[in-house]
Amino acid sequence: MPLVGTKEFFKKAYDGNYAVGAFNVNNMEILQGITEAAAEENAPLILQVSAGARKYARHEYLVHLVQAALETADLSICLHLDHGGDFEICKKCVDGGFTSVMIDGSKYPFEENIALTKKVVDYAHDKGVVVEAELGKLAGVEDDVSVAEKDAIFTDPDQVVEFVQRTNVDSLAVAIGTSHGAYKFKSEPKLDFERLEEIAKKVPGFPLVLHGASSVPEDLVAICNKYGAQIPGAKGVPESMISKAAKLAVCKVNIDTDLRLALTGMIRKCFAENPAEFDPRKYLGPAREAIKEVVKRKIGVLGCGGKA
Ligand code: G3H
Ligand code: 13P
Ligand code: ZN
Repeated sequence: MPLVGTKEFFKKAYDGNYAVGAFNVNNMEILQGITEAAAEENAPLILQVSAGARKYARHEYLVHLVQAALETADLSICLHLDHGGDFEICKKCVDGGFTSVMIDGSKYPFEENIALTKKVVDYAHDKGVVVEAELGKLAGVEDDVSVAEKDAIFTDPDQVVEFVQRTNVDSLAVAIGTSHGAYKFKSEPKLDFERLEEIAKKVPGFPLVLHGASSVPEDLVAICNKYGAQIPGAKGVPESMISKAAKLAVCKVNIDTDLRLALTGMIRKCFAENPAEFDPRKYLGPAREAIKEVVKRKIGVLGCGGKA
């Protein structure tokens, strides 16, 4: 099967009230765990590569690993650049076989974000590649933060129509209270669903993206900590909130932290239980299985199983 873009994925997800999982890939075991889960659950799949992953594993290796997955499993896969920071990296990925790129201009003022996003869209669309952009800043917001402060961080629904129309972008990451990593909330988890629904109403039919959507499951954190990790007080987005977002206009949900926790917990467990073992396959194999398990669970939460 050839790599695909996200147009068809998102149309079906939007109409079917579910979301497609976008999982970060950094090495072969992570990729195999994810793709085996998606194949067994018959789920559409977005494999995403960050700038850091590209630097770590190298572009060609990652593209060829994904090609190997396509050759060995009956899967619909989109290969996506996660958080492209400038035009150049987006161009390299468009030219280098990716079917989707994200240009993350969220750190720039509105007009600059529009100009940068439009430049990437014009280049990518010309080559049949779809583009995701970001508006608003990803951050957890505590209860004592003022409305004005919150408005300055979260996506402004009034800017969304203009942004989408002027850039012609294919999907948009929105800020409604999620953040990257394992420490998303100091107190109770809270997302601004009102804002999400308001944004969705402004751009009917348009796919939204949720970054920082790991749930940081307590059982995975507990395994890490039991075997020597120090990840106290980690907290993610409850699975019920992810399911709710997936039923609304969110068509793509980004997951990296949960994979890291699953992988790290299992490697720590193997080392602790078998200190004499030094065959990498004896800990990377179980770690790959742990990734597969967490991805299957996520596919259930997103509702995308059986939708490939
Ligand atoms: O958005 C962040 C992702 O978790 C990727 O993280 O830049 O460390 O690869 P990374
Ligand atoms: P998490 O850190 O919540 O897994 O988010 C990953 C992400 O948004 C990648 O772009
Ligand atoms: Zn992200």
